[in-house]
Amino acid sequence: MTVPLRAGDPIVVNVGLGDRAYDIAIGRGQLSTLGARIAALRPGCKAAVVTDETVARHHLAAAQAALKAAGIESSSVAVPPGEGSKSFAMLERVCDALLAARIERGDLVVALGGGVVGDLAGFAAAVLRRGVDCVQVPTTLLAQVDSSVGGKTAINASHGKNLIGAFCQPILVVADTALLDTLPAREFRAGYAEVVKYGLLGDAAFFAWLEANWKDLFAGGNSSGSFAREHAIAVSCRAKAAIVARDERETGDRMLLNLGHTFGHAFEAAAGFSDRLLHGEAVALGMALAFEFSARRGLIAQAEADRAIAHLAAAGLPTHVSAVPGAWPGVDAMMDLIAQDKKVRRGRLTLILVRGIGAAFVTRDVEADEVRAFIAEKLQ
Ligand SMILES: NC(=O)c1ccc[n+]([C@@H]2O[C@H](COP(=O)([O-])OP(=O)(O)OC[C@H]3O[C@@H](n4cnc5c(N)ncnc54)[C@H](O)[C@@H]3O)[C@@H](O)[C@H]2O)c1
Ligand SMILES: [Zn+2]
Repeated sequence: MTVPLRAGDPIVVNVGLGDRAYDIAIGRGQLSTLGARIAALRPGCKAAVVTDETVARHHLAAAQAALKAAGIESSSVAVPPGEGSKSFAMLERVCDALLAARIERGDLVVALGGGVVGDLAGFAAAVLRRGVDCVQVPTTLLAQVDSSVGGKTAINASHGKNLIGAFCQPILVVADTALLDTLPAREFRAGYAEVVKYGLLGDAAFFAWLEANWKDLFAGGNSSGSFAREHAIAVSCRAKAAIVARDERETGDRMLLNLGHTFGHAFEAAAGFSDRLLHGEAVALGMALAFEFSARRGLIAQAEADRAIAHLAAAGLPTHVSAVPGAWPGVDAMMDLIAQDKKVRRGRLTLILVRGIGAAFVTRDVEADEVRAFIAEKLQ
């Protein structure tokens, strides 16, 4: 297991992208190092912190204090919490605030929040004055293991989610695991689905470790000497970093990260991107369906698919369509949503299926009718 050398030391994961490589510093209390880390990378810069109102209440003062301690002046702008803020209106508001704060080339945008803030602030940084640098300070488990790493940024359009965006790598990610202590339990659990995803898609040993240690990870504290949370985040970031370094623009391997997402997004969209089904919950459901579908096709033994699904369920994540309250649209509407997913290329469905736990692969040879029959059955 990866543990810090001493309590308080970070685990550092490097994203190897040549002259755009950057570090992810993971550990309890790492927020206090934010200013010093930035000062080392961009001496003399000023910063603007973009956050949401909920995160601001909990963590903005500490973030700005950490900047100030290193002599970095900062302004801040807080948007309302929630997916609705990944909009043109909020992009305009954030860009205006950044311009009013005189953020120029050489200065920095600090994204302090979950995936919503990371995506919005990252995109604002990508387009402000044709691009200023961005530092990600993820405050949800999902953001610490997924959205803050890899450089995808986006807002939503009326045509769908994440359709307007840019690839823009941060220059630094600071993942302070103590910030997760204020995160609602349901949000933490939803983020855990993305952690399990890394095991299921490519690392069977990590999956087995999660089966044995997930409760420590949820409990999170280091007082007992357990660094389960930090270890799980580090393994997840390393997995994502390795894939991103191989395929930054998602032409091949990076698609593996979409395990559970094609089915999951369809249910998430059908639920209106609402509290009814959080993204991570939709991913858990989607992964359970991907494993079941793979077993159906004889790609993986049923018992192994059951093992994957059982772990998601044990952690309290939905693995059956019926586990999510409320009614679903019919199979036609669900198939439209599956086909609308941006993972569709030239009309063919791209699915991520599995040959085993830790052995996901990308396929385009599944007929839509086969998926349709499967989904129709699940909707009953
Ligand atoms: N760019 C990428 O590669 C990528 C990858 C995955 C997901 N995403 C995007 O991420 C978004 C979802 O991110 P999310 O799940 O982090 O949601 P989120 O940013 O909406 O955060 C969830 C909720 O938790 C609150 N919150 C955040 N941190 C908190 C803390 N420490 N304490 C208390 N409350 C806190 C937020 O205010 C919000 O209400 C989606 O828009 C998705 O498209 C992007
Ligand atoms: Zn996801």
